[in-house]
Amino acid sequence: MIISIGPKEISTAVASLRNGQLIGLPTETVYGLAADATQDKAVASIFEAKGRPQFNPLIIHSQSVEGLSEYTEFDERAHLLAEKFWPGPLTLVLPKKSDSDLSLLVSAGLDTVAVRIPQHPVALKLLHAYGKPLAAPSANISGQVSPTTAQHVEDAFGNQLGCVLEGGSCQVGLESTIVDLTTDKAVLLRPGGIPNEDLKALLGDIHHYEGTEIRSPGMMKSHYAPGLPVRLNALKAESGEALLGFGNVKNTTLNLSISGNLVEAASNLFSMLRQLDHPQHSGIAISPIPHHGLGLAINDRLLRAAY
Ligand code: TXA
Ligand code: MG
Repeated sequence: MIISIGPKEISTAVASLRNGQLIGLPTETVYGLAADATQDKAVASIFEAKGRPQFNPLIIHSQSVEGLSEYTEFDERAHLLAEKFWPGPLTLVLPKKSDSDLSLLVSAGLDTVAVRIPQHPVALKLLHAYGKPLAAPSANISGQVSPTTAQHVEDAFGNQLGCVLEGGSCQVGLESTIVDLTTDKAVLLRPGGIPNEDLKALLGDIHHYEGTEIRSPGMMKSHYAPGLPVRLNALKAESGEALLGFGNVKNTTLNLSISGNLVEAASNLFSMLRQLDHPQHSGIAISPIPHHGLGLAINDRLLRAAY
């Protein structure tokens, strides 16, 4: 349902987010598919709704640098860029604070997190009212083009969403520029709404990421893989191994989802791998995960962890 913004509609959207539902959120770049970034299941349902075969890390959106500082470390460069370009179509990848309550799924297990303050008045109003950060990828089905009107979002997701907030046509119409500030040299990960020249004027040198794709967790050295060996499609644990179960499996150390729910499993994946990655075990055995729905992304991630 598309709704125009007013005090009542803001509380509808806020209630949806509190309940772990997704909403369509206008930003100046493209519409986002937004969820509470601290709720594991809500974040997992973003991936399910988009039909992404992989857990790409997501951007978190907030209305203030103070809000984002709870989650990330801002160095001098980050403050400089924030002052100049926020609110606006710039995303910064920054080191994640270890004590943050962000869902681990937001950054797909990485120790970095992408953050931005959007410029759209509806987005800012909602973020202000909600008071917590929102994880939001572009609100399109994976592989389709990004949405620039509320109707695009409604057409793609319809009644799967708590609501779609009306925000007119997106002014920028192109995703945000992404700059990685987790290394000494700033790296441009994705060109977008901010002209390169404007970035260079502030940062001096900026390196272009040289891969053919946007950096994804599987391509990044820093991505989280357990220190222990991981064994997939295990029916039971060998001696010393921890067993990470899925479904109705006996003698598990932890279970991703006893009821066999893939959204629940995705929401538990990174935190349970971390919990089991402990020298008291000799390895981590993992039950078979079905290859449909979010199971594709879970298996993709597990294959990388086992590699
Ligand atoms: O304009 C935008 O940025 C829109 C609006 C809704 O804010 N959002 C958007 O999100 O384009 P999405 O998920 O379609 O693209 C986010 C990109 C992904 O390609 C992902 O690889 C990258 O950001 N990204 C997110 N977190 C990252 C991280 N920690 N390290 C490197 N790349 C990251
Ligand atoms: Mg996208």
